[in-house]
Amino acid sequence: MTRKKIAVIYKAKIGMTKQYATWIAEAFKADLLELSEIEQFGMLKYDLVIFGGAISAGTIRGINDLMKRAYRELVIFTVGMTPPSDLDHHALLERNIPADRRTKTPVFHFHGGFDCKMLGFFERTILVPIKSFILKLKPTHKLTADERAFLKYYDKQVDLCKWKSILPLLEYVHEKVA
Ligand SMILES: Cc1cc2nc3c(=O)[nH]c(=O)nc-3n(C[C@H](O)[C@H](O)[C@H](O)COP(=O)(O)O)c2cc1C
Repeated sequence: MTRKKIAVIYKAKIGMTKQYATWIAEAFKADLLELSEIEQFGMLKYDLVIFGGAISAGTIRGINDLMKRAYRELVIFTVGMTPPSDLDHHALLERNIPADRRTKTPVFHFHGGFDCKMLGFFERTILVPIKSFILKLKPTHKLTADERAFLKYYDKQVDLCKWKSILPLLEYVHEKVA
């Protein structure tokens, strides 16, 4: 039996998504690529594409580009500061994945990290105004999980990536390609 060809493709900024993508690619001996390295029809070379995108202001980085491309089978993972147990999975999918692909595309969430030194000038500069805006807008008990995570970590250097978080994805993909 020939082994299925898998690619792990990621789009990120600080480095946590690449870390998860690297662990997953190692587990399946898959090709590891940044989204910009893939040509328009390049994903068709693979039986399965595992795409990882960092969450930025509720949007999965690279998702629009990904959705314009052709692929055979797709699994997505997202990486964010909001703890996966608190994440509004439904809202994230509704905002990022077209309705006709939502049920066909499994999405896993992993806890990421933060390091404002790794951000570009613009993103670094808007962190403090965003914090003031959130605090002015809402009392603490009305904050969403995303807002609570932002306020907790926006000025810190944290890495909450854990290898064992990828186990459900590994199990899912293992069954798919077995
Ligand atoms: C401008 C900005 C917006 C963000 N918005 C969110 C968000 O809406 N939800 C979330 O869970 N994490 C959010 N994060 C946190 C990142 O998703 C988190 O730091 C993640 O680890 C980044 O992945 P990367 O290290 O691969 O770039 C945001 C980070 C930045 C810099």
